[in-house]
Amino acid sequence: METIALGCDHAAYTVKENIKDYLTSLGYKVLDLGSHNEERVDYPDYGIAVGEAVAQGKCQKGIVICGTGIGISISANKVKGIRAAVCSEPVSARLSKEHNNSNVLAFGSRIVAPEYAREIVKAWLDATFEEGRHSKRIEKIAAYERKTDHSLL
Ligand code: RB5
Repeated sequence: METIALGCDHAAYTVKENIKDYLTSLGYKVLDLGSHNEERVDYPDYGIAVGEAVAQGKCQKGIVICGTGIGISISANKVKGIRAAVCSEPVSARLSKEHNNSNVLAFGSRIVAPEYAREIVKAWLDATFEEGRHSKRIEKIAAYERKTDHSLL
């Protein structure tokens, strides 16, 4: 079974625990990269940690959660090879895998209710990248990453 990396900030700690239980109940392994309580933290630390775990192949996919899902997804997307998608409903979550081959799912704990978050997660996990015409677009993103040395920006 796949291993899913999980990351969140203080605003999403409770939902992250909820999603961790859900993933475990579905049979997934979970790598919980924090945060581990509701003390105020900075979302980039957790978005980048999840992005690196996925990019390095320690996990097949990642899920990142902050108040809106925005800050932590921006952070995860700074890691080369990461395609993090912020999704507030299941259709976008499914399409982000089918068309964009998203390898990190993001959502906001202050935007979606926990039960709905589980539906979003399930739609994403059950989806498959369709390849075909979508592959060359993903490859264009990867080509840009390869030619760009972000350390100079
Ligand atoms: C934390 O208050 C909040 O700014 C953060 O969780 C997130 O929404 C940022 O994008």
